[in-house]
Amino acid sequence: MLAFYLTTGILGIIVLLLISLSRRKPSPLPLPPGPKKRPIIGNLLDLPTSYEWETYARWGKEYDSHILHLYAAGKDIVVINSATIANDLFNKKSSSYSSRPQFTMTSELLGWRWLISAMPYGEAWKERRKLFQKHFPASDGSIHKPRSMEFVRRLLPHLGDTQESIQELTRHTVGGIVLSIAYGIDIKPSDDPYISLAEQAIAGVIECSVPGAFLVDFIPALRYVPEWVPGAGFKTKAKRWRGLQERFHDEPFEVTKDRWANGIARPSFVEACLNSLEDGDNKKHREEVIKDTAGMFFAGGADTTVSALHSFLLAMLAYPEIQSKAQAELDQIVGTDRLPEFYDEERLPYLSAVLKETLRWRPVTPIAVPHLAAEDDIYEGYFIPKNTIMIGNVWAMLYDENDYPNPEVFNPERFLKDGKLNPEVRDPIEVAFGFGRRECPGKHIALSTLWITAASILSVFKITKAKNEDGSIIEPDMRYQSALVCHPQPFTCDIKPRSESAAQLIRSLSE
Ligand code: HEM
Repeated sequence: MLAFYLTTGILGIIVLLLISLSRRKPSPLPLPPGPKKRPIIGNLLDLPTSYEWETYARWGKEYDSHILHLYAAGKDIVVINSATIANDLFNKKSSSYSSRPQFTMTSELLGWRWLISAMPYGEAWKERRKLFQKHFPASDGSIHKPRSMEFVRRLLPHLGDTQESIQELTRHTVGGIVLSIAYGIDIKPSDDPYISLAEQAIAGVIECSVPGAFLVDFIPALRYVPEWVPGAGFKTKAKRWRGLQERFHDEPFEVTKDRWANGIARPSFVEACLNSLEDGDNKKHREEVIKDTAGMFFAGGADTTVSALHSFLLAMLAYPEIQSKAQAELDQIVGTDRLPEFYDEERLPYLSAVLKETLRWRPVTPIAVPHLAAEDDIYEGYFIPKNTIMIGNVWAMLYDENDYPNPEVFNPERFLKDGKLNPEVRDPIEVAFGFGRRECPGKHIALSTLWITAASILSVFKITKAKNEDGSIIEPDMRYQSALVCHPQPFTCDIKPRSESAAQLIRSLSE
């Protein structure tokens, strides 16, 4: 242990000295306002380690600025609390604000360098993103919509008829949807090995994304500390997580490739890409690009979509009058003798408002994914140095009282006027999926999965608060966990068919 602390201490002092010597060149222009900096370490001790979006929003009020500057351990950080400034920088100046900061633990030690969302702006990123968008343009739902519908209809008979929690079942369903879209893999009804592998692999990334969780992210030279040195436990963790990362990257792809070679692959992203892969010098490289891009479906699409879906279920539980109103709209437009279809969506504005409010009320990714400034810039008289970590505070934007009065209250009516969606209210979708060239390319997949799951559940089930054995009501815990992707605390609920005709519809799905 002593050896580790000595090594860390010496390296720490060297790094702090280097940091103090390698400070950015001074600018005559001021940096955006922010908390007072201490010598060398700047705001390192001020940085919040949980619910940081709330602290950033509070600082915004204290310093009377929607743009803030922080400095910690050699890194400049700019926080943007307003949708207008996010648009000015991330969208209008996207060529300067589309890269990503690099983290030693995740990219180097765990080996997630291939993940589109972690890649710096450049050719490798462009190639993968282009491939994703070629196969899943926002205008074409012909692959993912039927697949979501199929999985949701398989889910319905299990709801209300099982000991498993609704959260577990919906998590399994969403995981199945994204794996199926990416690889055409069919999952088992429970304990599926692919889902389990993917979840374990992603758990490593989630643990690494807690700010300050691993010192090696601040002192990259620590990666050379041998694993046997007492205290270098991060190397042991990294080794185990790396193994999971490699299996997650390779196994589903190799299985799909085998099936494709034998002519038995189900239509999917990988299958379509392999169909159009031509022999030639760069075939190996093209295959790697397909494999990397496919891996992003689960990594980017599962936990995020699950978070939105669980927030929707929690809102329905906590606001029964809103649930009833959405069901009345479904009954009127869809009727009670069939399940909702995607073509119903346009005629269900109340349900659309409920889902917009879900994404606003409990933002899935409250600080999105940080970008990196590729060059020095000036914004509204403030200097933004090259290599600044740019944080878009999605939570602050979606809790802006000017756009959304009483933001704490779940109120879908705020998006409606005369029974229609009101185009004058800022759509949360503008920021909930991030910004500029790095905006989530799976947004339309997420939205349609969310819609068909919510519409189908509401059309046949009533969700109510669970009761204790003594008959008292269990109030759901409304708090949220703090993470890069936020989830509600686990909650219990009762879920029962709304009527005999609903029960019949549900039964017909398993016949
Ligand atoms: C409710 C669900 C989802 C939310 C809230 C969400 C949110 C986000 C956010 C905030 C980013 C970072 C944007 C930025 O850097 O500014 C992102 C990136 C990404 N998301 Fe999603 N996402 C969701 C679902 C999905 C799905 C279903 C997929 C794929 C099937 C997906 C694939 C990706 C990819 C590939 C990136 C990386 C983009 C890049 O760095 O260029 N996401 N997402």
